[in-house]
Amino acid sequence: LGTMKVNHKGHLEIGGCDTVELAQRFGTPLYVIDEALFRQNCRDYYRAFTEEYGAEVIYASKTLTNLAVCTIVEQEGLGLDVVSGGELYTAAMARFPMHRVYFHGNNKSPEELRQALEYKVGRIVVDNLYELELLNQIAGELATRAKIIIRLSPGVEAHTHEYIKTGQIDSKFGLAIENGMAMAAVKRCLELNNVELKGFHCHIGSQIFELQSYAHAAEVMMDFVQDVYLATGYLTEELDLGGGLGIYYCQGDEPRPVKEYADIMMGALKARAARYNLPLPKIIVEPGRSISGPAGTTLYTVGAIKDIPGIRKYVSVDGGMGDNPRPALYQAKYEACAANRMTEANAEKVSIAGKCCESGDMLIWDIELPALQAGDILAVASTGAYNYSMSMNYNRLPRPAMVLVGGGKADLIVRREDYADLIRNDVIPERLRSSVV
Ligand code: LLP
Repeated sequence: LGTMKVNHKGHLEIGGCDTVELAQRFGTPLYVIDEALFRQNCRDYYRAFTEEYGAEVIYASKTLTNLAVCTIVEQEGLGLDVVSGGELYTAAMARFPMHRVYFHGNNKSPEELRQALEYKVGRIVVDNLYELELLNQIAGELATRAKIIIRLSPGVEAHTHEYIKTGQIDSKFGLAIENGMAMAAVKRCLELNNVELKGFHCHIGSQIFELQSYAHAAEVMMDFVQDVYLATGYLTEELDLGGGLGIYYCQGDEPRPVKEYADIMMGALKARAARYNLPLPKIIVEPGRSISGPAGTTLYTVGAIKDIPGIRKYVSVDGGMGDNPRPALYQAKYEACAANRMTEANAEKVSIAGKCCESGDMLIWDIELPALQAGDILAVASTGAYNYSMSMNYNRLPRPAMVLVGGGKADLIVRREDYADLIRNDVIPERLRSSVV
């Protein structure tokens, strides 16, 4: 994948950098981001959607964001999907062009809405009626008009290899089409003075391989566009159809090419628009995982190895659920290799344990690897998405550093947390200091 290869020392190399040297230089655990692959993934979307169909691609920050990543996304011509004041602030500090920012979230605070309006973000994706009224009021106070997109639940739920219609009325996100809440919101929007309705949004899920589910959701959205037109005369300008394309983590995962995804979805949209004799709205897609995920690799140093005869060999590494909570949270599967033993044959089946005080902190169960020893470097693949962004300080483990590699160069883009960072926000109240116990 990407620029990964094995060098003359038998070491894993990413972006022309020897990962064993990266581990020595920057320490472990270490997030390594392959710049060329990240950019390539952006370009695949830009070509398939923007160049081919004039659609806008906005990268989902929630998968991985920081100042350097925002800078790359900007350079590749993509927009940005943010879901909190923090992600918005990061974009602003990276000088990301705010008209290319879309602000999502099911419970934006009044402060976040005000912040978004003051930054002049491109679109606010309104999730519910409470937010609609609140935003209208805040926009009024700021003497501005918020450009909004309403989030809908189209009643399409995607699964890895199938799609099913569900009673999506029962979701914390968006307004359901089928119970009339979506239509009611549209009508209310058209009455409000300080919001300008631009279109509609949906997101049917993540890590999806079944492209038909996108086509189906797109059709349901176009049906709604037609219903709204007939009921109110409002002509939808934009449709934001979410993210979700699945990536390869382990055997059985069969990612589809971005071009195929674009062609199938745009084909379905065009056919519906033609059927209704409506202009095709501007299309927006919000990929995250399929851009950042494959571009990330995490390096760990092997420590304690415990063989329980006849049962299992546990190989512990110096990170785990703190830097990658996905196996513990979702039983997510990952593949790994011994970065300093790439030319050695697999010798045994082991399980990779994290270092948190929690039995569930297992990164990988039952993986074939060369015989490992303490000090070896383990590389876990496809950790670019929802790893650093979901990392935590459980057990007061400092978060790892992140390096951007490319053309044989490695640059620190997130510095490693240290112990001082861990107590930075701690306060000992004066009365604890002075009290005699
Ligand atoms: N747009 C919206 C509105 C979303 O809710 C999401 C993801 C995306 C775009 C990006 O989807 P992607 O292309 O990355 O699939 N933490 C979970 C995944 C949560 C997905 C949340 N929404 C995980 O680690 O698998």
